[in-house]
Amino acid sequence: MTGIFDSGVGGMSVMKAIVQALPNEDICYIADSAHCPYGSKPPQEIRRLSHRITGFLVKKGCGVVVAACNTATAAAIEHLRAEYPHTAFVGMEPAVKPAAEQSHSGRIAVLATRGTLQGRLFQQTLHTHAKDADVQIIVGEGLVELVEQGRENTPEAISALNALLKPALRKGVDTLVLGCTHYPFLSAAIETITKGSVRLVDAAIPVALQTKRLLEKQRLPAANNPAYFFYTSGDINVLQTMQERHLQLPNVQYAQLGV
Ligand code: DGL
Repeated sequence: MTGIFDSGVGGMSVMKAIVQALPNEDICYIADSAHCPYGSKPPQEIRRLSHRITGFLVKKGCGVVVAACNTATAAAIEHLRAEYPHTAFVGMEPAVKPAAEQSHSGRIAVLATRGTLQGRLFQQTLHTHAKDADVQIIVGEGLVELVEQGRENTPEAISALNALLKPALRKGVDTLVLGCTHYPFLSAAIETITKGSVRLVDAAIPVALQTKRLLEKQRLPAANNPAYFFYTSGDINVLQTMQERHLQLPNVQYAQLGV
């Protein structure tokens, strides 16, 4: 079984790609919605929350754990790897490299949480992969909350995105990195504003392919009739609504997470 966690329902955008890459794999998804958003929390608090969730997933028998959260990856992935040496981890970081490669104008924007943008990992990535690009950095203030409330394609979402994206659009960016796993769920609202003039890039597919590679290395047997377990520290109805709206998987079970 593979474990996936996020501060909330955002990691389901990554789970979608993982299910496509690994259609026979049992998956346990954890949404820590009671503590969402992580983006404004201090790194040590995010590490503490990520440790507790990883402990739960390891106990459930997950050999591979995907931190489907850019913010948790930035704050905690190195610590998790040290703490759980027998577990393989996949982390997420904003897809700056493909965005810089695909941009025609050389002007890109990165939309992410404050925690991700302030992390050392992101600064390194910018330095390594976008040295020659003109990069607009945008803190996605309030966006995670909109997705958690199931309001991802509403007039409020469009108006919040319009205010955040307008300055970068005026500067002529042609590529936008969705550097938080909640944001792909805002794609329809973003398209309403950009009308196809901006390419949206996220890291879900590369993360799914890396998960597949790690599982193949472990040679763990896959299920014939895979099951999907969804746990949340928040409201089960929110989790279920998002699952039914965006994933529509069979063999699904929902439960409350007591951590
Ligand atoms: N999905 C998380 C990420 O990718 C959201 C972080 C948050 O809870 O602020 O960063």
